[in-house]
Amino acid sequence: MAVSIRLLLPVLLLLLFPLIYTMSILHERWNPKDMKKLSPKKPNQLVLEPAAGQGLPNRIQCQGTEALNRIYPSSKNSNSEDKVSFVTVFTIYKSDPTNEKMLDRVTVGEISYNTKSERSLAILNTYINFIQVSMPSSNVVVLTDPDSTFLLDQNNAIKFPIEGDYSRSNLMLQRIKSYIAYLKRILKSYEMEKANKNIIFSDSDIAVVDNLGDIFQKYHDFHVALTFRNNKNQPLNSGFIAVRGTQDGIRKAKVLLEEVLDIYISKYMGASCMLGDQLALYWVIKLHLPSAIQKFNQHESFTGYVKGVSVLFLPCAIYNWTPPEGAGQFHGMPLDVKIVHFKGSTKRLMLESWNFYNSTSNMSNMLCLILCSGRTKYDF
Ligand SMILES: *[C@@H]1O[C@H](CO)[C@@H](O)[C@H](O)[C@H]1NC(C)=O
Ligand SMILES: *[C@@H]1O[C@H](CO)[C@@H](O)[C@H](O)[C@H]1NC(C)=O
Repeated sequence: MAVSIRLLLPVLLLLLFPLIYTMSILHERWNPKDMKKLSPKKPNQLVLEPAAGQGLPNRIQCQGTEALNRIYPSSKNSNSEDKVSFVTVFTIYKSDPTNEKMLDRVTVGEISYNTKSERSLAILNTYINFIQVSMPSSNVVVLTDPDSTFLLDQNNAIKFPIEGDYSRSNLMLQRIKSYIAYLKRILKSYEMEKANKNIIFSDSDIAVVDNLGDIFQKYHDFHVALTFRNNKNQPLNSGFIAVRGTQDGIRKAKVLLEEVLDIYISKYMGASCMLGDQLALYWVIKLHLPSAIQKFNQHESFTGYVKGVSVLFLPCAIYNWTPPEGAGQFHGMPLDVKIVHFKGSTKRLMLESWNFYNSTSNMSNMLCLILCSGRTKYDF
């Protein structure tokens, strides 16, 4: 008997090993503290923590990754004819060695992203995917250097080459220039095409998770809409600029952006390259509409005229949510969230969210996944 157990033991261990191994992986996944002890590096897979904002009104309520109260997103019942052109600036140069250097392997779903350019392109594609599912009659226009080398394979997106200097240190300046060039081209073709698409200029590290087009119907009068938050130094977000797609709206948006460009060049060329446009935008508003400043620490939308342009100011907090990425407390996710903005290392979470959505087709549950895992800084 003793002999046979000794013979069987290795076999038993072999049989049990996959089980023990799986249990220890699960243990790591669900116990973020243990995981920190095991590896001082940023985690290479999602860390789920309890959702914030539970029990608070107007916040998404979750049980794990199951949404309890956001069952019908508004896009399902509102007018699906809200066509919007999302316009973003993006370039990649294969010739740039820092973009092609091999990085630590990051795998999301079945796909590994090993270089900086693979990761940025994945973010762009994910941005396009989310627009495709949240606003199926909208499209994406990617303003880019004519020399850039990436390919787009989605049918709701096109590359739109505009000459310029897209180097990293000049990118925010170039972005405004490209926006203006785009508006000029649209104005030119307007008569021919009778196009009447509203435009949203945006960063590409956002996931559109609901119909954003309804701001154009809810507020009828504005030419340009901007979002603000209660932040003394940078209350305005240059990563979101909505333009009404009428001839007048497009002309007025051009007037506003040209003023921002002038201020950028005259005052902020020395500023940190990633902030210049935001600071210039704020300067323009302060100069022409000083009464707006006190309203930035409130939570109500308002409108005002800036150089003859009717500008709608929307509080970011209504529908824009950013994972706190390590920051201490936060108060959950608004029930009406329409945009999730993935900054810094949570960009990785953007790919994870898409992967989750693609396999479950449940946007509300995906928001719970983001809410539960957005406090961690990821390896990306
Ligand atoms: C969605 O998932 C399927 C496999 O389940 C995969 O073949 C497809 O490429 C994914 N689509 C996107 C856009 O990620
Ligand atoms: C998403 O999941 C929630 C919770 O499991 C469920 O109540 C809801 O009906 C699902 N929505 C869709 C569109 O499948």
